[in-house]
Amino acid sequence: MKRLICMMLLGAGLSSFGIGDLQPLENWEPVASGVWKVQIGETDRELAYTDMAARPPRLDALNALPDVPFPFSESPIEFHRSDERMVQVHIPTKSDEVIYGFGLQLDGIKKSGKVLNLNVDHWAKGGGRTHAPVPFYISSRGYGVFFNTARYLKVHVQVGNRKDSPNLPDPVDRNPPPEEPAPGPWKALPDSDAVEANVRAAGLEMIVFSGKSLQDIVARYNLYCGGGVLPPLWGLGFWHRVPSDFNAAQSQSEVTAFARHRIPLDVLGLEPGWMTRSYPCTFEWQKYRFSDPAAFTQRMLDQGIRLNLWENPFVSPEGTLYKKLYPLSGSHLVWLGLVPDYTLPEAQEILCTQHANEHLSIGVSGYKIDEVDGYDRWLWPDHATFPSGTPAEAMRQAYGLIMQNMLYKDLFHKNNTRTYSLVRSSNGGASGLPFVLYSDSYQHSEYITGVSAASLGGILWTPEVRQAGSPEEWRARIQTVCFSPLAMLNAWSSKTKPWEYESVTDDVRSVIQLRMRLLPYLYTAFADYNRKGIPPMRAMVLEQGVGPVKTRDAAAKLDGVTNPYAESVELEQNDQFMFGPSILVAPYYEKNLLKRNITLPKGNWYDFYTGEFVGNGTTIEVATPERIPLFVKEGAVIPMLTKSIDNSRDAYGHPLEVRHYGKQPGSFELYEDDGKTFDYEKGDYALRTFSFADGKLTQKRIRPGVPLFGEVERWMEMTK
Ligand code: GAL
Repeated sequence: MKRLICMMLLGAGLSSFGIGDLQPLENWEPVASGVWKVQIGETDRELAYTDMAARPPRLDALNALPDVPFPFSESPIEFHRSDERMVQVHIPTKSDEVIYGFGLQLDGIKKSGKVLNLNVDHWAKGGGRTHAPVPFYISSRGYGVFFNTARYLKVHVQVGNRKDSPNLPDPVDRNPPPEEPAPGPWKALPDSDAVEANVRAAGLEMIVFSGKSLQDIVARYNLYCGGGVLPPLWGLGFWHRVPSDFNAAQSQSEVTAFARHRIPLDVLGLEPGWMTRSYPCTFEWQKYRFSDPAAFTQRMLDQGIRLNLWENPFVSPEGTLYKKLYPLSGSHLVWLGLVPDYTLPEAQEILCTQHANEHLSIGVSGYKIDEVDGYDRWLWPDHATFPSGTPAEAMRQAYGLIMQNMLYKDLFHKNNTRTYSLVRSSNGGASGLPFVLYSDSYQHSEYITGVSAASLGGILWTPEVRQAGSPEEWRARIQTVCFSPLAMLNAWSSKTKPWEYESVTDDVRSVIQLRMRLLPYLYTAFADYNRKGIPPMRAMVLEQGVGPVKTRDAAAKLDGVTNPYAESVELEQNDQFMFGPSILVAPYYEKNLLKRNITLPKGNWYDFYTGEFVGNGTTIEVATPERIPLFVKEGAVIPMLTKSIDNSRDAYGHPLEVRHYGKQPGSFELYEDDGKTFDYEKGDYALRTFSFADGKLTQKRIRPGVPLFGEVERWMEMTK
């Protein structure tokens, strides 16, 4: 029938109907092994996310990877530019193909069947608007697509059908008479055969990645963006943010209380009250609360505590920067503060000089860059103008990235000091920027999903802990955050302390201590992010591949009020993830606070704590809420500190315990450097391997250099 209509129309002289406007994209330029790029239209005046990357593409690392074929040689990507400054692209997909990614989407990583508005915003409930709507996705068919443009991007992910598609499904009668049963269920979303996207711009750069596995594709994306971040060692310790109105003495008492309760602590975060004015900000110390900032910062450093300062970018008329930044800022105010145009070198210079003199020079270690995300009603409108001519839309999409890039390069890197900081918005190209995302939302399951979602798009996410409704929830949230990129309690409003709930304090302390013991393993996981592009925490799809895809809940029922189109519900399990190369983490949360199920991928898995075999491709139930469920891969080798430490400075020279799980031989390449400067970029780092075979450990120093941790004091075969 379809063919008949087509022939009739062709006979009537209509050469095509619908996609005559699409043309194949042919001028793909190979950039490195597994990476191709193309420009559609004029991109010269468009802001590209990779302009804000920490480093240029790691071509040497990419070219050391195996060659892989271009994924669109058989069915090309097509495009169309309309006169109204719109670029649209049509990326063909197969019927069994599943799409994952698009940044920090806290409602799930699978995006097939969704329409997404990729706009920087506060997280609400799906739809694409989020703190980091990274326009990068990966496909179960083994490729990734990156839209390298700081524009709002609207993506129809396998939603919608072009009328001349050769793959149109047959329509199904939704209300067939009883004597003519329909051939299948009527679908509110007929199967589509493409990802389609559009931007309102004169041009668009697209980059396609291919690889041997989904992890390899993500790693190539990260390497293209300059490689992943290597935080300072202290950044991987435990963080605590004090209430907004705390002064120097109260902050010191908090540090003392942590020591008294034997809770490890590396970073203390000061919230807005450290400044003379906030919302908008002066970036100047509030002398009423901190009379001698240099002495306070030094006292903290003497105790091994780094300071992180909250700020938002909006400049208060009551600060010294206001006059200087006035001509270098946008047309609209936010909370009555200036919005500096930090694409301008003069504006960057003004902020970085002030930060260097008043913060970095006295020993401040990082920032929490707040409010760079949204809402529309708080930030500048799309018709705002900026002195550089950068469109307001691009500023909105990239403001968080621009600030990260500026502080990273012009403050920290320039002074050969690493930072690990926080930011509330990010976007494409960010893997090498030393910032971790956080949110004001607070659903525990979404916070766990965030760890997986972030891993697909070169960003890092902290499921920070603020408060809890019960001791069990408190414990479970702290367990989760200890297995994330940044372990932080943010008590800015709730004033809660780790020892808030006595009944679980020992469990809370022991999971924080376990994170500290795992520093050698964790630091190497980040070195692998930096050098090989492999994310330190990984969604399960990166570990096990896609596996059998159960896309939708077939049991969706028609309901005239709650589900009038009988739409089915996405089925996704995002409540477990990989921590480093070999530990699977399955946190307790919400209804699963005391017991839960875990799906183990194929291969033998062992209990981290006991070394016992637990399963292979099976679903198991656990009910040991006093400790977070951790499972280790067959053959894995895990280097740890022999004892817990209360501060990361005690990790230097600390003896190691090396564990081996399972029966197969295995090895671990431990990365070490000074843990705080960028000297590793000049080659100042060391590598040693620990290999287990036939019940014996063999150690080898394969690259001499700066040792960080001490010698192996003991090793153990965990699986008897
Ligand atoms: C919020 C931020 C919180 C806290 C607060 C201080 O916007 O997300 O974590 O810093 O500002 O006013």
